[in-house]
Amino acid sequence: MAVCIIYHSETGNTRAVAERLAAVVGADLVAVRDLAGYSKVGMYLKGAPRAMREERAVIEPAAIDVSGYDTVVVGTPVWARSPTPAVNAAIEALSGIEGKAAVVFCTSGGMPGNTLERMKAMLAGRGADVWGAVGFSVRDVRQGAAVDALADLVRQSEKAKTVQ
Ligand SMILES: Cc1cc2nc3c(=O)[nH]c(=O)nc-3n(C[C@H](O)[C@H](O)[C@H](O)COP(=O)(O)O)c2cc1C
Repeated sequence: MAVCIIYHSETGNTRAVAERLAAVVGADLVAVRDLAGYSKVGMYLKGAPRAMREERAVIEPAAIDVSGYDTVVVGTPVWARSPTPAVNAAIEALSGIEGKAAVVFCTSGGMPGNTLERMKAMLAGRGADVWGAVGFSVRDVRQGAAVDALADLVRQSEKAKTVQ
């Protein structure tokens, strides 16, 4: 069973969760870059309002083909209680996502708002079979929080897809 983890990370927290999950479940990692190349201040002044408006960034890679995978995991930092513009764009850039299991996660300062619900709705809108979502706080990540709950969701989705 093949798992793909797609994530955006500017300051390393979301990447840390993605890499821990990949080590636990065995997965390919796709790091999405926002080509706006924000400075630290620019993330707040430009990135956060764009996230709030649910905009899509120009990203690299521009297209993400997941047809060779059974489960797709998407991870985002929370910006203005929302998924980042890079993640909005990444979900739109997916091809072959229809009918695939999807699991989402976010990392935040503790106020994720509707980020996970929005990601689940976007993926469901792309035809994915959404299994669940897990939120991590920055403190969780820095303390080396386990990714067990996320790994369990991935394993459950794999099992269900095998049975189908
Ligand atoms: C522009 C910006 C906006 C943010 N907005 C929120 C927010 O609304 N709620 C929250 O809990 N944390 C917020 N944070 C904190 C980040 O979600 C948190 O640091 C996250 O782990 C960053 O992920 P990364 O290290 O993978 O880039 C914000 C951070 C930035 C840079």
